[in-house]
Amino acid sequence: MLKRFSVSLEEQLLDQFDEYINAHSYSNRSEAVRDLIRARLINEQWEQDSEVVGVVSLVYDHHQAKLQDRITEVQHDYYQFITSSTHVHMDHHNCLEVTIVKGQASKVRELAERMIALRGVKSGNLTMTSTGDGLH
Ligand code: NI
Repeated sequence: MLKRFSVSLEEQLLDQFDEYINAHSYSNRSEAVRDLIRARLINEQWEQDSEVVGVVSLVYDHHQAKLQDRITEVQHDYYQFITSSTHVHMDHHNCLEVTIVKGQASKVRELAERMIALRGVKSGNLTMTSTGDGLH
């Protein structure tokens, strides 16, 4: 059920918020406020070491010695936290590996950091989200 509440803001802050809304293509303030609240609450779940979901993206050159093996080793070390992984050959050299991870926030973060820190990973990123328990 949707409930309404009113918020008082300084005019300048509201102007900045409206600019943000336009820049991010929101159709109205309510949807933007909901997304900001959800993002903050998801962040809180990660901080509190709750059960979370994440996506680890790695871009790397598959010619880098043993890198593919090392990625696989890390994934096996943390197999309980891995839901699935997808490998895309981006071009002759570069690979994109996307791993969907789920579990206790600290373990999931540790797994992501170990993969991202591997030598030869050109770009590594952990997108943090959650199952949305308690969020709608
Ligand atoms: Ni590849």
